[in-house]
Amino acid sequence: MNNPNRHQYDNVADMLYDWNLNKFLMLGDGQHENGLLEDYLTYYDSAFGKLLDITAPVPGNHDYYWDWEQFQLHDHPFAGSNGSGYFGYFGEIANPPLGYYSFDLGSWHLIALNSDLFLNFDITEVGSPAYEQTEWLKADLASHPEKKFPGTLVFFHHPLFTWETPGAPGWTSPELIPVWEMLYEAGADIVLNGHSHNYQRWAPQDPYGNYDAGGITQFIVGTGGYYLNELGHPPVPGSFVWGQDSDFGALKLMLSNDSYSFEFWSISGDVLDSGYNIACN
Ligand SMILES: [Fe+2]
Repeated sequence: MNNPNRHQYDNVADMLYDWNLNKFLMLGDGQHENGLLEDYLTYYDSAFGKLLDITAPVPGNHDYYWDWEQFQLHDHPFAGSNGSGYFGYFGEIANPPLGYYSFDLGSWHLIALNSDLFLNFDITEVGSPAYEQTEWLKADLASHPEKKFPGTLVFFHHPLFTWETPGAPGWTSPELIPVWEMLYEAGADIVLNGHSHNYQRWAPQDPYGNYDAGGITQFIVGTGGYYLNELGHPPVPGSFVWGQDSDFGALKLMLSNDSYSFEFWSISGDVLDSGYNIACN
């Protein structure tokens, strides 16, 4: 397999291991170019396998054998019946076959969504995998109220908001607006995404990109290895705060009772972005 930056994701994995984490949230596309089982076992596992017992994964588009000849997403076969490499490798922790689930960490509720289902199926069509996922999400949010869980963190592969080089603006996925609407109404605090191969932090905002102090803070952490993509060119979107496209690294989140702190670490050991004691919504 062609992977010129293999050592980069080895270094990210080693850094994460040294952090002695409670959880490692794997934001999708853990294995490039395609999430074949043998590649997960050969490459991903040799770096990130040591974190497997604390890993909470979500699938990305490359976990569905992304094929440029099948670029038409609506022609893509039923996503839930694919992802066999991803689900074969992660097994029960990925909650096969649909890949969404939730769990609690202290006073935080964490929700793992399968954004491939949102992008491949019509969310408004009753009974579709995307519709079913939103029904599940609605019930999950209702049974984890803000009163009991001041912190809500949601992670899935595709970002609603991204700022990348030309060609990429279309990658902002409007299919995810209804999902953000549900999360916003429920008072979710953090959304974590991958897909864009860089690091981006966005100001708290509503699902339409308007600054809102009580809105959702979105991070993109697509810096696990393989390659990086350039951030966009001006104009900078109003709610974009900071990003970088030159260093591989990882985001460390420290979740407290009703607040959180974050640090983005490069593999060279520098904290490139940080925020401390941010109150939950
Ligand atoms: Fe992706």
